[in-house]
Amino acid sequence: MEEIEIRNENFIDVLDWILTKIILRDKNWKCPEITDLLIESSHKACSEEYLNQIKIEGHSGLPKDSYSKTMGTTHSWDQSYVRTKLSFYFKVKKMTLLCFYPKYGFVGWHSNYDVDGYNLLLNWSEEGKGFFRFQDPKSKEIITIPDKKGWTAKIGKFGGTAEDELWHCARTDCRRASVAMIFNSKEEQTLAKHLICGTI
Ligand SMILES: [Fe+2]
Repeated sequence: MEEIEIRNENFIDVLDWILTKIILRDKNWKCPEITDLLIESSHKACSEEYLNQIKIEGHSGLPKDSYSKTMGTTHSWDQSYVRTKLSFYFKVKKMTLLCFYPKYGFVGWHSNYDVDGYNLLLNWSEEGKGFFRFQDPKSKEIITIPDKKGWTAKIGKFGGTAEDELWHCARTDCRRASVAMIFNSKEEQTLAKHLICGTI
């Protein structure tokens, strides 16, 4: 995954609209009490040991362990809203995630090989105290991209096979949200990158 700079002022306005109208609504942040066990789990699920273990166990593409609120079908109109807003800027094949992480929220190692494709990941962090971590499919190096306060954007490719699947996880010590999507092609992803970076 590669972090890209969000420089297009109009796109920043759209992200702020998504933040105010959808992400920051109180109902998204009602969550059970935080325990020491939860905090421990959040570190464990993003560790190299956990990654190695889950590779042996196998998985469906989806995370086995997480502490987050993912929008289900009852909130699918939220995703539709976001998709409509973004579609003024670029063509999205599929919205794959709209997810809220409370303080100490996390998503354990997984690869999303079930929704493979060229993707865009937009993250909002209230204080920048979190990260996205992935394993390079070729070099096997584990790379951590720290969050920044506010919005950040990353692009990459989730592979659909054991050779190119992109293992990743995330955790946060402050409120965080993820909006993810895949494109029809690498070309459409590149167009979106230029638009976000303000280079077209
Ligand atoms: Fe994921």
